[in-house]
Amino acid sequence: MSDLKQIFKNNIDWVNSIRAENKDFFKSLVEQQQPDYLWIGCSDSRVPANQLMGLMPGDVFVHRNVANMVVHADFNTLAVIHYAVEYLKVKHIIVCGHYHCGGVRCALTDEKFGIVDSWLQHIKDVKRLHKDELSTLEGQAKEDRLCELNAMEQVYNVSKSPPVLEAWEKGQELHIHSWIYSIGDGKIKKLQEAVSGPIEE
Ligand code: CO
Repeated sequence: MSDLKQIFKNNIDWVNSIRAENKDFFKSLVEQQQPDYLWIGCSDSRVPANQLMGLMPGDVFVHRNVANMVVHADFNTLAVIHYAVEYLKVKHIIVCGHYHCGGVRCALTDEKFGIVDSWLQHIKDVKRLHKDELSTLEGQAKEDRLCELNAMEQVYNVSKSPPVLEAWEKGQELHIHSWIYSIGDGKIKKLQEAVSGPIEE
């Protein structure tokens, strides 16, 4: 059996296991989605949003890209944030980085990787912004810290995005979280307190 045939079989097994618990589960999802969470995470295959939070279909709106970045000129991410905040009325936006992130690792080198280099430049900006702290670290510790700093900087970027500022202006409840996921033990860690209103500068 090819791997793709196996995937279709897995799908039917999964459907059956969910319907055994709740036979109307899929029907109940057809009409609408009402997730409380928007997850912004890395595309890395080892960091599956729903699974690691133990959440079902319908529970979380998901956006993933290389190294969980929120770039102000990226209309893909901005459209996701806008839809999630304005129409789905999510209460929490979670930016979750992860240790051993290939994107972060590449950004720490001067090697050229092609088109992804333009994207990674945004992580290099985070590195530059925190160069004093990072200069005190070496090797894996340095990479791990940049993974953390990157997630926290993306929370800052989310907090400055027009849909989020508008929501706060209207008094909408919205909390933005920075988390980090450890591939080595499967655990999520909170990096800093949630941002729940405009950041004063
Ligand atoms: Co990654």
